Formats: sequence, structure tokens, C-alpha cells
Amino acid sequence: MEQQQEVVSAAGGQSRSTDVLGAAVSPAPTFPAVLDACCGGRAMWFDKRDKRGMFVDVRNETIVREDMVRKDGTPWRGWTIDVTPDKVADFTKLPFHDNTFALVVFDPPHLSFGEKSYMTKQYGTLRGKDWRAMLRDGFAECFRVLRPEGVLIFKWCEVEILLSEILALTPERPLFGHKSGKQQKTHWVTFMKAPNVELTGAEGVRVE
Ligand SMILES: C[S@@+](CC[C@H](N)C(=O)[O-])C[C@H]1O[C@@H](n2cnc3c(N)ncnc32)[C@H](O)[C@@H]1O
Repeated sequence: MEQQQEVVSAAGGQSRSTDVLGAAVSPAPTFPAVLDACCGGRAMWFDKRDKRGMFVDVRNETIVREDMVRKDGTPWRGWTIDVTPDKVADFTKLPFHDNTFALVVFDPPHLSFGEKSYMTKQYGTLRGKDWRAMLRDGFAECFRVLRPEGVLIFKWCEVEILLSEILALTPERPLFGHKSGKQQKTHWVTFMKAPNVELTGAEGVRVE
């Protein structure tokens, strides 16, 4: 069996393979496989600096909440939300090639508070926007940059608008979903982009 040799490329990355002449093969592309299309403060991430993620948001800002108070009534200074995407971009016009990412997470604004509200500063707002068009275009863009058979995780909090109304904005069919939150209002919905081949369905599988 052919043995693979571990080498360090000129770029400093680790490669486990060499070509037929023994020269180092470039390490796998380091472009992240996961796109967070509207990352906000990255609260959902276990590691907010995870190198597997490409973080996008329409803004770059740090918000300090002055309204937060401790139980004893003293102000809780320094409670901040860092919205520092790798790329400032609009999810209705993503600056990536088609079929780029293995996984896309799409957690758009779901509330319509005013611009001054801290909820808006933290999560964005649907107020004053043609939100149906915005979310329809957002879904279309997320699927465009997703690879065939790539997975899209969509998060929606059903406080003001029903999930069914939002799912009607994409022709894509979800696979399955899950509710969470104190009143079960937050939905996590999983989609998979169509593969490049036509599927035969499970009846095409022969069980011996
Ligand atoms: C619900 S929050 C995301 C929260 C995030 N998932 C987290 O874990 O903290 C929605 C985010 O979408 C961003 N956003 C709103 N419109 C956008 C757009 N057109 N393109 C990209 N990001 C947008 C907002 O700035 C906000 O940070």
C-alpha cells in the first residue's frame, strides 16, 4: 500500500501528501466550509472565533447596553455585543461564488422593533423593510452559495410571524425541524440543497 508522507508546505500549512515526484501537495484550501449569513454577536456559536466559519453581517459595530442593571439596581456596565463579521455584506447579495459552502446557517431578524430598541441593535429589525422580499432573496442566496447536498440550518423565532409564512418564501423543502425556547417559539429547520444527480428514492435500494 502506498505510504503517505507528512510534509509542511511553503505556506506553513500541513499537508499529508506528496505527488508522484515526491513534491509536497498544497494543503487543502483553507477557505471556511461554513457560512453564517448574518452572524450578529455569534451567540449561537460554541467558539465565536471558530476558523471553520465565514462570518457575514450587514454591519460592523460594538453595542454597549446601558439599560442592563444588576439585581441590586446598579448599572451593569460593559455588557457588550460585538458584531464583527469577517465580511460586511448583505445576505440578499452574497459576495461568494455559487456552490461554495458545505453548510450555511441563516438566522435573520425576526422582530419589528424600532431602530433605537436594544432588541433591534442586538438582532436587527424587520420594521420598515419589505421583509418578504428580503427573506425570499436571502433564502435564494443562501442556497446559491451552498454546495449540492450542502445543509442549510434556518432559525426562526415565531414571536410575531408564523414559521409557515416564512417557509412559504422559499421553494426549497425542509427535511426536518425542532423547536426550542421556554415557550417553544424558536424553530431550527434543516434543509439540504438538491444533489447534482436525479434521486431514485429509497425504493431503488435493494435489500438482499
Ligand atoms: C437574529 S440576529 C443573528 C443572531 C446570531 N445568529 C447570534 O447567534 O447571535 C440577525 C442578524 O442579521 C443581521 N442582518 C439584518 N439584515 C441583514 C442583511 N440584509 N444581510 C446580512 N445581515 C443582516 C443583523 O444585523 C443581525 O445581526
